[in-house]
Amino acid sequence: MAKERNRFVCQSCGAVHPKWQGRCDACGEWNTLQEEAAPAARGPGPAARTGGGRRVEFVGLMGETAPPARIPTGLEELDRVLGGGIVPASAVLVGGDPGIGKSTILLQAAARIAASGQRVLYISGEEAVDQVRLRARRLGLEQAPLALAAATALRDISASLEQEPEAALVVIDSIQTLWLDALDSAPGTVAQVRTCAAELIRQAKSRGFALVLIGHVTKEGTLAGPRVLEHMVDATLYFEGDRGHQFRILRAVKNRFGATDEIGVFEMTERGLVEVPNPSALFLAERRGNVSGSAVFAGIEGTRPVLVEVQALLAPSAGGSPRRQVVGWDSGRLAMLMAVLEARCGMTLGMNDVYLNIAGGLRIAEPAADLAVAAALVSAATDRPTDPGTVYFGEIGLSGEIRQVAQAEARLREAQKLGFGAAVLPRRAARGGRPPAALDGLKLTEIGHIADLVAPFAAKPGRKDALKST
Ligand code: TYD
Ligand code: MG
Repeated sequence: MAKERNRFVCQSCGAVHPKWQGRCDACGEWNTLQEEAAPAARGPGPAARTGGGRRVEFVGLMGETAPPARIPTGLEELDRVLGGGIVPASAVLVGGDPGIGKSTILLQAAARIAASGQRVLYISGEEAVDQVRLRARRLGLEQAPLALAAATALRDISASLEQEPEAALVVIDSIQTLWLDALDSAPGTVAQVRTCAAELIRQAKSRGFALVLIGHVTKEGTLAGPRVLEHMVDATLYFEGDRGHQFRILRAVKNRFGATDEIGVFEMTERGLVEVPNPSALFLAERRGNVSGSAVFAGIEGTRPVLVEVQALLAPSAGGSPRRQVVGWDSGRLAMLMAVLEARCGMTLGMNDVYLNIAGGLRIAEPAADLAVAAALVSAATDRPTDPGTVYFGEIGLSGEIRQVAQAEARLREAQKLGFGAAVLPRRAARGGRPPAALDGLKLTEIGHIADLVAPFAAKPGRKDALKST
């Protein structure tokens, strides 16, 4: 028999390495490798080796299949992200930084589902029963008939769930606190997290209750990241936004029962997380008109249009290499846009420190934001405000061309709804030639090249030195 050897498992992505190294080759994280005992060698079972299995039934794609039943959580923004509620017998992972509000939102949702008459179990491995009760009282939920327990031993939890045939929802807070005594490794390691999650998911599927696993994201790599569980669950939701901000964005990054990239927006108040049904109004609430370096982006998050303010600030660099500080957007994309503005429009930005911020704590991944970011940059560089009643969207290519983006009409409608009077967007030809219907009162400026965006700034009063051509 081969000699039993220990192995080193990355606590962030689960990759296995034969020896210790400072950085995981698979995910690039530093100091995330931890020693674990190698699992006993397992080959295919006797049935697979010798035959004797049953024939699997094959069926057609058409057939009697009802859409999945859903348990509404009572929090509309959470239901939206889940695709209409929690699906029975499914497993959902809710990840996010410590302190961002995972326990709070799940206690709120669990209490509401319990109040609707279903059996809901909330198992906390992180906080004592008293702490959870205190939180429930603070949230005004102490009357809800929720079944609460503090436990961390998987064996005990499994056995208890076996005796809960009525359970509709089980919340585990958090998966990183659970442990199975049959494993050598400590709670929170990849081996423990995977094994405990697999067992709970198996029970959820066979007994028909919905399972929500809370998982912390840690930068230090001392706990296994929720990433190692993503492929095991049906839906993965991540909390975004920093603790200093009162807004929290819940984003679906995987969902077998709904759209991904759908977001739910919440505000953290002293009475828990409150839904924000109109995020555009909230993201734009603190906007000040007539300040240079600000532009409004008409974006799409999941199935919903969202308007956000892009802010840019340029300051003369103190020497050395200029700073580039980006919050809420991709810094590589910013470098590309600055290069395009310099090469195609003759602007000089490179000597400045550049700060870019998406107001409100939203993270934007859409290339459609290019045009709004460029408008904010040009506005900052020329010290001329953009028109506060205008929204921007469109992708910018390397030759400076403005490229079409999806769902132009939905973006324009949202702008109209929020009282905007104008939009700068890609040419209609590039959008498929269909004129947007019923957008009276919205002045559309269709542009084909980034120079068309820059030109109006040259005509406004303000600082001119950033534009060589004027
Ligand atoms: P929590 O849900 O415990 O975070 P997680 O489970 O993701 O670690 O949220 C904790 C933070 O939220 C804490 O800093 C206090 C704050 N908070 C409020 O502001 N209002 C509230 O009603 C509650 C319950 C928490
Ligand atoms: Mg918590």
